[in-house]
Amino acid sequence: MIKIAPSILSANFNDLANDVAMIDKAGADYIHIDVMDGRFVPNISFGPVVVKRLREVTKKPLDVHLMVFEAEKYIEEFVSIGADIITVQYEATQHLDRLISLIKSLGAKASVAINPATSVDLIKPIIPIVDQILIMSVNPGFGGQKFIPYCLDKVRQTKDFILEQKLNVDVEVDGGVTESNAADLINAGVDVLVAGSTVFNSTNIKQTIQNLKSA
Ligand code: DX5
Ligand code: ZN
Repeated sequence: MIKIAPSILSANFNDLANDVAMIDKAGADYIHIDVMDGRFVPNISFGPVVVKRLREVTKKPLDVHLMVFEAEKYIEEFVSIGADIITVQYEATQHLDRLISLIKSLGAKASVAINPATSVDLIKPIIPIVDQILIMSVNPGFGGQKFIPYCLDKVRQTKDFILEQKLNVDVEVDGGVTESNAADLINAGVDVLVAGSTVFNSTNIKQTIQNLKSA
């Protein structure tokens, strides 16, 4: 079953709690939360204070995507306020194995993201020890960008490796996901579709989530 993780970066920040409750009710499987530091990516979003309040309005897993340097400084706090899945960026740390161990030791699910230009081969050593791999299909930093076509093959490569090795690891894709490319992504082996603008710009969110799921 394909899981849908709406990214709240495209939600209405005047009424964030309401938007999160709405996607929860509309059938979202995860709530995808993009944390940006203005250094690793050219944008600043929000941090733990906001995530803590969101934990109060939904029981759905919080899928926290850390686009930050020095993630080790923040992981404990995010887990303590209720993050279920923590994604760290391969490109933002020199000690990826240590970060993964830290996340797992705190009882959260560990996930690693790679940017479009980063090869899947570079993360093969750690795929067996994580719960999820996130293939970025836009350059991270902003919602509403266009899907970068060559990332589709990276999804396939990641899924093939997971199947070959008989691993229990989800493949998530993030950036430019639409109702038009969802079927290709699912055929390539995606388990979790992150969708920001596609979900929040929709006039019928429930239907859009359903369409993405059954693409
Ligand atoms: C980009 C973020 C994404 C983004 C996706 O840096 O990681 O989660 O919000 O937005 P859409 O689906 O609009 O491309
Ligand atoms: Zn994201």
